Amino acid sequence: MTTPRHFLRLSDLSADTFRALIRRAIELKDIQHRGEIYEPLKNRVLAMIFEKSSTRTRVSFESGMTQFGGHAIFLSPRDCQLGRGEPVEDTARVLAGMVDAVMLRTFHHEYQVRFAAYSKVPVINGLSDQHHPCQLLADMQTYFENRDDIAGRSVAWIGDGNNMCHSYMEAARILGFQLRIACPEGYGPDGDLLAEAGDHVVVCNHPKEAADGAHLITTDVWASMGQEEEASQRRQAFKDYQVDESLMALADKDALFMHCLPAHRGEEVSHGVIDGPQSIVWDEAENRLHAQKALLEWLFRAQP
Ligand code: CP
Ligand code: NVA
Repeated sequence: MTTPRHFLRLSDLSADTFRALIRRAIELKDIQHRGEIYEPLKNRVLAMIFEKSSTRTRVSFESGMTQFGGHAIFLSPRDCQLGRGEPVEDTARVLAGMVDAVMLRTFHHEYQVRFAAYSKVPVINGLSDQHHPCQLLADMQTYFENRDDIAGRSVAWIGDGNNMCHSYMEAARILGFQLRIACPEGYGPDGDLLAEAGDHVVVCNHPKEAADGAHLITTDVWASMGQEEEASQRRQAFKDYQVDESLMALADKDALFMHCLPAHRGEEVSHGVIDGPQSIVWDEAENRLHAQKALLEWLFRAQP
């Protein structure tokens, strides 16, 4: 079996490839905005399996495949035999005979690793409990477009040490920025991933310490999908971790705010910040489309 390129976490990319994808995403955005037809994936098919809800990931992959002249198929475990216990290894081999790539949104990252091990077509992580690499392609594109290369900059992560935080940690190491993390006790990132990030990641004791002089402040929901039952306990633990105007005021004067969305105004971010002048969340959301088109082009190009 030939080994295809997979994209399960950001560390599947070199720094050069990451920057090339960002440049290409910006070009593809321009092509799209000019209304030019560009169909490099005619007749190609992407299968998408979602164990969890999605707005941005589903619509951006589906639109991206359509704009590229291909097609995307939406599957949930409810609608296919996975939900009735067909092994992931069998599903991977069956789909690889019928489609050209597979996107997975799953509870467990391990599931994606198992799927990829049996797939002869590329597998893309559209979010797992550990990583959200597609979101980081879009976030980095958005920073580069609104400012410049992020190398040497300081980024503050405020809140949960979750999948998004882990992908920011990987981005910091690959692109060479400093990530300053402030999480409540007991909600920090994975220790092994922290060790891998080395001195690109600094764990701070307080959100103010992380925000001090930052060029970008970012956060995410306090309770991720699958943690709904912990929501009230988490609201208590995270109550001092809101990105509000007073926190933004500690950052660099040109600092930007990002959030992968969906957001809970009044929890992890104030209304004033997410809807204010430093927020670039709508560019960030749109860039999911362009960044993933660049990713798809790159993954498909590597296939025999
Ligand atoms: N940011 C993100 O992945 O959004 P969805 O859950 O809507 O796909
Ligand atoms: N951390 C969030 C991200 C949603 C895009 C979750 O996993 O639910």
